[in-house]
Amino acid sequence: MREHKNIVILTGAGISAESGIDTFRSAGGLWEKHRVEDVATPEGFARDPELVLRFYDMRREAIQTKQPNPAHHALARLDADWAGELLIVTQNVDDLHERAGAKRVLHMHGEHLNAWCTSCDVRSPWTAPLIDRPPCPVCAARTLRPDVVWFGEMPYGMDRIYAALRTCDLFVSIGTSGAVYPAAGFVQNAVELGADTLELNLERSQGSGMFHQTRLGPASELVPAWVEEMLA
Ligand code: APR
Repeated sequence: MREHKNIVILTGAGISAESGIDTFRSAGGLWEKHRVEDVATPEGFARDPELVLRFYDMRREAIQTKQPNPAHHALARLDADWAGELLIVTQNVDDLHERAGAKRVLHMHGEHLNAWCTSCDVRSPWTAPLIDRPPCPVCAARTLRPDVVWFGEMPYGMDRIYAALRTCDLFVSIGTSGAVYPAAGFVQNAVELGADTLELNLERSQGSGMFHQTRLGPASELVPAWVEEMLA
């Protein structure tokens, strides 16, 4: 691959798997244990808010007990030392990229450690349960929900993501199955815009065929090795 200047990195649940956070579609993954329709749609929330709030309370509590792994730390190092443009677009709602020290991070599917008030539309940092419908810290309404983008809702930061894809010369995808759009379509955008594309994943993703290069293995090994190459 040629020299690169501007990088977009897409991460998915696979980068946090070795930190002990469940992925969604692997054997024993979240979507085997819970119906997407029940816990990850606005309709499911309207139908049974308690079920949904309990689900995200459990996840919010769990991620606070997990630690970033070598893949998160390697990306934080690249973020700190890379002179060119760099954007880590994560589908993950955990805060392990930031806890590893990464700064140029965009959460396109929201964040567990925020609560979103559907009355005043403010997102507030939040680590406690939502099941008892606590008041919004800004408007006091009891209409807080998890700040997670559910199926059928618009992901965050799409303009910024497409702007970064337009200027990047390298697109790297780490730990994602390529099952969910619009994230699964970024590799095609990047290829059409002339960027080199690299996939780092445990197994081939649904979009594998579109990548110029695919490396298979655990993120905790592949990502530090790749970052070493980039900073060499
Ligand atoms: N290292 C690298 N890759 C891994 C590892 C690992 N240790 N463990 C699993 N993977 C890979 C799997 O092979 C799979 O391709 O990570 C991917 C995880 O895929 P999913 O569980 O489908 O998660 P993700 O792609 O992030 O899901 C996308 O779907 O459910 C929605 O909003 C949710 O953001 C999520 C989106």
